Amino acid sequence: MNKLSNRYFANMLATDLDGTLVGDDDACEYLLSWMSRELRHFGLVYITGRHLASAHELITEKSLTWPDLLVSDVGTQIHIGPDLELDEIWQQKMNADWQPTRIKQVAETIHGLRPQELPIDCRVSFFADGSVPAQQLKNRLIEQGLNFTYIFSSDRDVDILPAGGGKGEALKYIAANYAVEGAAILAAGDSGNDSSMLTAGFPGVIVGNAQPELRQLPASHMIYRADRSYAAGILEGWQHFYGQ
Ligand code: GLC
Ligand code: MG
Repeated sequence: MNKLSNRYFANMLATDLDGTLVGDDDACEYLLSWMSRELRHFGLVYITGRHLASAHELITEKSLTWPDLLVSDVGTQIHIGPDLELDEIWQQKMNADWQPTRIKQVAETIHGLRPQELPIDCRVSFFADGSVPAQQLKNRLIEQGLNFTYIFSSDRDVDILPAGGGKGEALKYIAANYAVEGAAILAAGDSGNDSSMLTAGFPGVIVGNAQPELRQLPASHMIYRADRSYAAGILEGWQHFYGQ
């Protein structure tokens, strides 16, 4: 049976890369080999802020296990299987009401925002001088009647995504389309762009080294705050929810 032609995964790790899975090479290698050895019908999902080529580079540089699904660009593109084929249904959903050119025009009127140079248009991102210009952009886009999702991370990165996009929505879509009913799923993250996937209704772990913006999420029995950092924190979270 083709793992990706049907709802197949009974266990699934959906993890951010930078600062979450990646940061402690030994712990990362241990976690990935432990999971693929111990968990049956295991699905590995990377959900990153990076664009595809940049995620690819990191996977190669760190010799990470190739994932079953790779979600790039802060949850706006889903790539499937070894060939990284785009999930067309998700793509149509993202393109339905998306106006990147107008967003860029609005942003030009705000001081303290620098466009991030990206090879794609499925999101529009900036470096902001703190939260004030970031918030101004958000307000101005609302005034213009545009539909979008706003994400601010690490006191610097501003991502404007299609409405209905983001890591949390992408994870819900993946769980509904690629995992079996009742699968054991864990979301793992370290910064603001992970917050939607930690509050998407699945067990989630905030790794010990997380940014303050993520630590500030309200307490919930669905969110475990690990003592350990990076991949060791992910394993701590998996064991908290699923034992072993
Ligand atoms: C990653 C991406 C960047 C994005 C940030 C926050 O650093 O490279 O483009 O703005 O994550 O989501
Ligand atoms: Mg991160």
